[in-house]
Amino acid sequence: MSIAIASDHAGFELKEQIIQYFEKREIEYKDYGVYENTRVDYPDYGVKVAQKVVAGEHEKGVVICGTGIGVSITANKIKGARAALCCCDYMAEMARKHNDANILALGGRTTTIDLAIRMIDIFLKTHFEGGRHAVRVDKIHSLTGR
Ligand code: RB5
Repeated sequence: MSIAIASDHAGFELKEQIIQYFEKREIEYKDYGVYENTRVDYPDYGVKVAQKVVAGEHEKGVVICGTGIGVSITANKIKGARAALCCCDYMAEMARKHNDANILALGGRTTTIDLAIRMIDIFLKTHFEGGRHAVRVDKIHSLTGR
C-alpha cells in the first residue's frame, strides 16, 4: 500500500506529523509538498495527489489544507478521484464502505494528530462494500463520463 500525501502551509504541520507516523509504522508514502511552511495555494497540492492516485501510482491519498475543504474540492475535479473530507472515525469508515473514497481530506487547523491517525488507520483498512453502493458510485462517475 503506497500513499500520496500533500498539503498547503495550513496543513503543513499536520502533514509532517502524519509522515512521522508513516515512518514509524513503515507505511510506504510519497510527500508531494509543500516542503516548508511558506504560503502556497492549496489547489496546487490537492491536484498533485489526485492525479497520482488516479494514475495508479498510489493506492490512496491524503490531502490537507486549513479546513480540508479547499483540497477536497480541488481533488474531486480530477476524474476518478473520490476525495472525502472527514472529521470523525465514522466518516472515515463510511467514506470507504459506502463511497469507495480513494483520498482522505483533512483539516490541519481542525484536526488533532491523534484523530488524524485514527482516521487514517480506519481509512486504510476499511474495504468498500460494493453492491448498492457500487451502483451509486458508478452514477457519480457517469457524471464525468468515466
Ligand atoms: C489557507 O489560509 C486556507 O484558506 C486553506 O488552507 C484552506 O483551508 C482552504 O480551503
